[in-house]
Amino acid sequence: GKKENGGVGPEPASNEWKVGAYLSLSGAETQFGKDTQEGTELAVEEINAKGGVKGKKVRVLFEDDKSNPQEASNKVLQLINRDKVVALLGEVASSRSKAAGIVANKNKIPMISPSSTNPDVTKVGPFVFRVCFTDDVQGQMGARFVKNKLNKNKFALLYASDDLYSSGLANEFKNEAKKLGMTIVAEKSFLKSETNFTTYLNEIKSAEPEVIYAPVYYNAMVPIARQAKAAGIPGNMFVGGDGWHSDSLVTDAGEEMEGAYFTNHFSPDMPSPSSQTFVKKYVEKYKREPSALAAQGYDSAMLLFDAMGRAKGDTPEAIRDAIAETKDFPGATGSITIDANRNAEKPIVIVQVKGKKFTYFDTVSVK
Ligand code: PHE
Repeated sequence: GKKENGGVGPEPASNEWKVGAYLSLSGAETQFGKDTQEGTELAVEEINAKGGVKGKKVRVLFEDDKSNPQEASNKVLQLINRDKVVALLGEVASSRSKAAGIVANKNKIPMISPSSTNPDVTKVGPFVFRVCFTDDVQGQMGARFVKNKLNKNKFALLYASDDLYSSGLANEFKNEAKKLGMTIVAEKSFLKSETNFTTYLNEIKSAEPEVIYAPVYYNAMVPIARQAKAAGIPGNMFVGGDGWHSDSLVTDAGEEMEGAYFTNHFSPDMPSPSSQTFVKKYVEKYKREPSALAAQGYDSAMLLFDAMGRAKGDTPEAIRDAIAETKDFPGATGSITIDANRNAEKPIVIVQVKGKKFTYFDTVSVK
């Protein structure tokens, strides 16, 4: 593009906002990072087409944390010290947002996680925010859905014990299920490094649950679903959380997962005008439908740019204060208000796997 100083090379730093984004662009959860990056890039394009923020263009520097918490912390430190970013976007996985959030908070650089749902993430300190609901709510709504909509009582749990998101959400579901008078017949946990789930699945099957709650990431759910089918467990016995949402779940295990439900942030076919506006723009740019991660990535970036525009100064502290004051921000995933604990209170979308596609089923509210 045309440079304001008429020269070549990068713009002088003062002519643009630098925002850092750290994501899993390689490694175990690559699709989380890629989807989020696409949503974020759409937001950057849009804001810059409108002239940027306070007359300055926005540049987002993307860093790959290789799906690793330690690497996430390193990349965030680099974005802060080397690149002098005013704010940070990331991560998807709660384990990585928590690790890197500690670094952001210590250095007083505001960070917004698009989709990390574990309650611990924002407890790190005053500089860490999220634009999604939390797993206490997600677990609660999951249990209520099983009890009240599916009319099932006997459940089994299957989750990764060494993953913050997975073990946390399993626990929240279990607590609510107990309150609802449901019965747990089996609880099986595995390590993230495991790939063979047949023994757990057979043990679960012999305990005769009506539902298997498996709050795991898509990369674990795909082999679980395939091995479950081989063990004679139908896909529609599974209920999960947002971690399932990745194209590969339906392309690699769509048949095995037929009929399964999960709680989520968004579905491209949800009947909301603001969501449909986003879907249209996304499809125009990428020629396919956005995932929840893309929508959350878009919302985290747009909300940040809005806060930068409202901030009383251009410093990270002023931006932090403006993020904290966000009310009724119209996002692609719904209206976002940041609460006193730096979380977003949002309705939960229930999605069903149907004909190898994610299909909107319902929207449920916390209150
Ligand atoms: N909520 C998950 C976590 O906290 C991340 C996730 C969000 C994964 C949305 C997929 C879709 O780790």
